[in-house]
Amino acid sequence: MRHFLEIDDLTPAELRRVLDLARTDMPPQVLDGLGMALVFQKPSARTRNSMEMAVVQLGGHPTTISADEVGIDTRESAEDVARTLGCFHGAIGARVFGHDIVERMAAVSPVPVVNLLSDAAHPMQALADALTIEAEFGSMEGVSVAYVGDANNVTRSLALVVGMLGGTMRVASPAAYGFSAVDIDRLAAAGVEPVFTDRPAEAVDGADVVYADVWTSMGQEAETEQRLQDFEGFMIDETLMGAAAARSVFLHCLPAHRGEEASADVIDGARSRIWVQAENRMHAARGLLGWLLGEAGSS
Ligand code: CP
Ligand code: NVA
Repeated sequence: MRHFLEIDDLTPAELRRVLDLARTDMPPQVLDGLGMALVFQKPSARTRNSMEMAVVQLGGHPTTISADEVGIDTRESAEDVARTLGCFHGAIGARVFGHDIVERMAAVSPVPVVNLLSDAAHPMQALADALTIEAEFGSMEGVSVAYVGDANNVTRSLALVVGMLGGTMRVASPAAYGFSAVDIDRLAAAGVEPVFTDRPAEAVDGADVVYADVWTSMGQEAETEQRLQDFEGFMIDETLMGAAAARSVFLHCLPAHRGEEASADVIDGARSRIWVQAENRMHAARGLLGWLLGEAGSS
């Protein structure tokens, strides 16, 4: 039984296959007559809607469930939620706080489990980011990606996908908001060795892709004021974009806060590819599910 909790759950060849499947307009109907349960402990616009539509395009029926309805680890354990949903559905997706919750669900689930964002990883976003970068530059090979901001769930998955596809990654964060030693070891195990700095201009210098995410992720709201102070000087504006390559594009997983992590003129400007990136969430979801419930199940 295969699950998808982080990008390095795939081999580089499997990752390539998922991205190829994402681009096909004749998806295998791997969910014909089946459902997919989508459980959310946190809000979502892109993930919920892209997953629901991908399930429909694969012949299936999505059932979106708020965490309160099933009560993960309150009404019943995460394991029993997974066992229960597995009685009715061909796959389970979950957006959770602790990454251990998706790991515990996957450990007992009778059907594949997909991480729809945890505090540690956002692999469905990273697949869409890879599709977007490959569409822009033809390939990830040799593309340099500069991430500016909090080294978070989105950054970990992005670093993996960029590195596994042959790109390079630089991460600029305030000292207290960088990757942990555990994160760096995991990236190294996948052959990925980002460059770290606390100077945004150093990361962005000559970069092909400049990437932003929020400074305060879901679940960290109590730290908002402190983070606004700590990330001063990390906003991506036109001046910072001026240090990037002439062909550079701007990406943001969204939701965005104009005037915080990036200025409005960058988010809405000519180099921004954020709406292509958002649409790619659906194509990426179709590719991942097509592989996970098709070829991965029969291999
Ligand atoms: N980028 C992303 O995951 O968006 P949502 O939180 O709206 O799903
Ligand atoms: N890092 C953000 C990503 C939102 C899609 C969060 O976890 O809230």
